[in-house]
Amino acid sequence: MKLLTEQASADNIARILEKLDTFNSDPSRGTTRVLFTPVEIAGRNYIKEEMAALGLTVREDAIGNIFAALPGTDPSLAPVWTGSHIDTVLQAGMYDGMAGVVAGLEAVRLIRAAGITPKRTIEVVVYTSEEPTRFGLNCLGSRALAGALTLEDAERLKDEEGRTLAEVLADLGYDLARFKDIPIARGAVHGAIELHIEQGAVLESLGLPIGLVKTISAPTNFEVSVRGKQSHAGSTPMHLRHDAFLACCEIALELERLAKASTSPDTVGTVGKVEVVPNASNVISGLVQFSIDIRDSDYETKSKLVAGLQTFFREVEARRKVELDIRQINDDKPTHSDPAILGLLEEACIKKDIPYHKMVSGAFHDSMMVGRFAPIAMIFVPSKDGISHNPDEFTEYGDIAKGTDILVETLLRMTME
Ligand code: GLV
Ligand code: MN
Ligand code: MN
Ligand code: MN
Repeated sequence: MKLLTEQASADNIARILEKLDTFNSDPSRGTTRVLFTPVEIAGRNYIKEEMAALGLTVREDAIGNIFAALPGTDPSLAPVWTGSHIDTVLQAGMYDGMAGVVAGLEAVRLIRAAGITPKRTIEVVVYTSEEPTRFGLNCLGSRALAGALTLEDAERLKDEEGRTLAEVLADLGYDLARFKDIPIARGAVHGAIELHIEQGAVLESLGLPIGLVKTISAPTNFEVSVRGKQSHAGSTPMHLRHDAFLACCEIALELERLAKASTSPDTVGTVGKVEVVPNASNVISGLVQFSIDIRDSDYETKSKLVAGLQTFFREVEARRKVELDIRQINDDKPTHSDPAILGLLEEACIKKDIPYHKMVSGAFHDSMMVGRFAPIAMIFVPSKDGISHNPDEFTEYGDIAKGTDILVETLLRMTME
């Protein structure tokens, strides 16, 4: 096998990440690039240009997952994938997701520069909307690839303006008749590796440049609305209130208590989005809508917590005489990395004398869904102060380059299998 002739270039990684970061609808605070907004579409187009400049064949499926292929010598073999996402949460940083896409492009550039033609095709994938920002559900593209988001789901999922995912896709020219062709059969992808920033502080605290993900914690998400009784903050005595906001607070605190009491070290629970109606200082709120996000690396433990929370919902409802409307958005299972790919990643780290740490991912990733139909593994690179989903998110380009060297080495070995 021919050898690579170059190491990953931090400068090239910086060039693409910084250009991608110009597609931003709220430059006053970090980066905001929400699914199928003009800046996100422009970001997609820019990444497609970079893909084409590498001589890759670019195609898109009916939900907008982008695939850029470097053809292998044996088209009968299942391809190897690498990639991540380019959409963001509101006021995000410029690395979450994007680092993995750019690492994939850089990996292909290195393979091309060395004049290597792999046996298996390599595809750089940009998954549609890993973040739940617009439609409330995460991993839309990879979920559809896993067969877990159908056209009926796309017709039901609505954004804040009441537009469905299916409508938005159709307006952009995606062919909904092709939706049924999105799911990938088990065996059709040989393996997939996603590079991602850690989004936590474990690597930094250990002083290590590389994390290899063993397990991806999975979320269970709810949208809850509490209907109480809107009334006057001065004239309503405390014992006659049905305060929707306080019911929400109690649930948030119970979630914290249950998560802290969990036997799994990876259990976390968050109420991150709260809308109080009418949101006025002298009015007891009559309606509160809020989100619940529960994650765990252990599905059984998470299910127990969810059951405990559901009991508490009923208790709060009865005690405060409020009405709860609870909508479960998803209940995902943790994904374990493939031991064989993990083994190759470890060998690449050892060969390059790069120290690494095997770890759990608290954040979810598209690989969580890809793992439902293909062997996966993930490479983490350090996040400064563990900060993410925040404009202060920061990762050294040199660390992304190091991760890319591990990525490309491993992709090549997988493509020669
Ligand atoms: C992904 O962004 C997550 O919320 O874990
Ligand atoms: Mn994210
Ligand atoms: Mn992400
Ligand atoms: Mn992710």
